Amino acid sequence: MAEGIVYVDGEYFPADQAKISVFDHGLLYGDGVFEGIRFYNGRIFKLDRHIDRMYQSAQLIGLTPPVPRAKFREIILETTARSGLVDGYLRPLFTRGMGDLGLDPRKARAPSVVVICSTISLYGKKHETGLSAIVATLRRTPPESLNPNVKSLNYLNNILAKSEANARGADEAILLDLHGNVAEASADNIFAVRGGTVYAAPTTNSLVGITRETILELCDGRYPVKVEPFPVDFLYGSEEVFITGTGGEVAPVVEIEGRRIGDGRPGPVTRDLQKRYFELVRSTGTPIPSRGSGNAPQAVGAPTAT
Ligand SMILES: Cc1ncc(COP(=O)(O)O)c(C=O)c1O
Repeated sequence: MAEGIVYVDGEYFPADQAKISVFDHGLLYGDGVFEGIRFYNGRIFKLDRHIDRMYQSAQLIGLTPPVPRAKFREIILETTARSGLVDGYLRPLFTRGMGDLGLDPRKARAPSVVVICSTISLYGKKHETGLSAIVATLRRTPPESLNPNVKSLNYLNNILAKSEANARGADEAILLDLHGNVAEASADNIFAVRGGTVYAAPTTNSLVGITRETILELCDGRYPVKVEPFPVDFLYGSEEVFITGTGGEVAPVVEIEGRRIGDGRPGPVTRDLQKRYFELVRSTGTPIPSRGSGNAPQAVGAPTAT
């Protein structure tokens, strides 16, 4: 079972004891929103940016956040402090809450707040050697059907693409939009490098990734950047391809649909950006308060695993 601490509606639990109701509309219908946040070396990377995005997601689905922003921030800091972890992953969620059956959100009585503080490991050694990818047959849900900036609790479009990658023995799936342009990977944004220029797939049909934003900042003054739509053939002809996400960090893609990208190894621009990304995340961010220092907000509820 996962290590860590989980906050659920006012109480803290060891990871294996945290529960929500089977009548929660987050479980029944995927009605809710979430964030994925990492902390490194005792600092939470871009915490406020993630909180902003979570409140924006909630706003986009008409879910009134169960707690005010400042309180939510305190809960995240306290949960992280209680976990005792210095490197890890946070998964805050707002669900529509417990209610009668039937998808009408008015049936849910009050939204719930959950903050999971644990660890995550996605690509491991492949950060150094590079990933293989397929192009999913399934297209990314179009923005006309669901705003890609809603990080909702329903990830089936992404999960089915990832399953296709699994079935075909690849590490990742690249999803195209309905027009055939590259949208994103299953839970990562996508970039290509050609002639020293970094090409970022636009976010018309993908999440405005916080890692993507960070990479664009790291390119500033060093590599020219173009944000424009491109088809998958553009990736085949690129010298480098890489994907970015909080969980997956910065990961080179060295093979797509059996075609080698560049020389089949992570390229210099990807490696440089990856190196500087890891330096940045390990040296910046909101410090996790030490427990008992007087900086941590007062504990809510009771049990802890520590
Ligand atoms: C669908 C999707 N695209 C892209 C990303 C990357 O976003 P970020 O860099 O903010 O983690 C994520 C991860 O949250 C995602 O779920």
